[in-house]
Amino acid sequence: MTGPKLCKEVPDVKVMVVGGGGREHAIIRKIKENPEVSEIYALPGNGGIARDAVCVPIGAKDIEGVVDFAVKNQIDYAVVAPDDPLVLGMVDALEAEGIPCFGPEKRAAIIEGSKAFSKELMRKYGIPTAAYRIFDNTAEALEYIDGAPLPTVVKADGLALGKGVIIASTREEARDAVRSIMQDKAFGKSGDKIVVEEYLEGPEVSVLSFTDGNTVVPMVSSMDHKRALDNDRGLNTGGMGTIAPNPFYTPEVAAECMEKIFLPTIRAMNAEGRTFKGCLYFGLMITKDGPKVIEYNCRFGDPETQVVLPLLKSDLLTIMRAVTDGKLADIDVRFSDEKAACVIMASKGYPLKYEKGFEITIPDDLYDKVYVAGAAQKDGKLVTSGGRVLGVTAVAGSLKSALNKAYEEVSRISFEGAFWRKDIGKRAIAVSEETV
Ligand code: AMP
Ligand code: GLY
Repeated sequence: MTGPKLCKEVPDVKVMVVGGGGREHAIIRKIKENPEVSEIYALPGNGGIARDAVCVPIGAKDIEGVVDFAVKNQIDYAVVAPDDPLVLGMVDALEAEGIPCFGPEKRAAIIEGSKAFSKELMRKYGIPTAAYRIFDNTAEALEYIDGAPLPTVVKADGLALGKGVIIASTREEARDAVRSIMQDKAFGKSGDKIVVEEYLEGPEVSVLSFTDGNTVVPMVSSMDHKRALDNDRGLNTGGMGTIAPNPFYTPEVAAECMEKIFLPTIRAMNAEGRTFKGCLYFGLMITKDGPKVIEYNCRFGDPETQVVLPLLKSDLLTIMRAVTDGKLADIDVRFSDEKAACVIMASKGYPLKYEKGFEITIPDDLYDKVYVAGAAQKDGKLVTSGGRVLGVTAVAGSLKSALNKAYEEVSRISFEGAFWRKDIGKRAIAVSEETV
């Protein structure tokens, strides 16, 4: 073991970004702004990212393949973006080869990798969250459900592609959720344990933050739109659109979050010997009793990143390297006062079954504005290859203008079966107008 070296100060930096969605595209575009960067590799990237980085067909979960590539190509800095490789310990494996990384080590990534862990952490350190019980035995979970208040929330302990949370409004639904996760193993080993928790009400806010384990710097807040259809109907998805900043995240709420949630979480992880370095994502609900943690993610959110990074005025690579070197307190992290909106164009059928391979038509002037999430190159053309296909982002002086711009751009892009929500930002605009 050589341990990670300090980040190189000279130009000619070769960066590697692990992952291949819209979030990774947004990260790559931003890193590209740094003049010291000579090459960016995306592992595996995608057909659209290929315009901005060299895509290498190595899967994001292939730790051995990624490490081998990084060593052979003398990568100076690695960004591990998705949850799976972080939870599996990719950062530890890269660091063992002396490659500086952005992203938490396995010991810290557990904050997303196990909901049972994160709930126990919050209980132990008094961080506000929904009341809960943890079960590793189906019979006991079912017995508890018989007397639990409704609605009740059933969560698989481990990673489940964002699908491991069931909000049950009847006991029968709650029992079905328990059986499906624990007995039928709908999410494999992620369902060996479950968390059953209190249902919370209030607007949701996503706050991504940079942290080096000592300093925590919240980024501009955002709002995701998780359901597939307008007016929050339909199935839960990875996210159908985002806006930033989130109008529910007032300066008062932000101050309360810093004092009661952000700093206590960083300190708690240190006290547990699990110092978190990277992007810590706080999924918050602003309840009538104050902000509470719904979930932690050990990474940038997707599609939150597609509205947060376009508003970042400081250099992303500089911030990331300061995080790695434990020097975040020494640098300035600034965001624009503008507003951003991102509309996801998805494949018909998403988040369930959908067809792939349809040609995507994007006018030339928009190519460098959209983030490509699920597309491949085929015979020199860009074709759909995923459920979420494009993230169309716009920035403007007001949220209304940003949304108008994003929707105008969406109307100029086409592929067969494209669908998108028509009401991204609607609730945010209504609230902003109320509070003006
Ligand atoms: P998660 O994967 O933990 O973010 O959960 C997915 C979504 O389920 C969240 O964004 C919330 O909308 C909802 N959710 C999760 N936990 C709760 C809860 N305790 N009360 C109400 N809604 C919840
Ligand atoms: N958009 C939610 C997430 O990235 O988990």
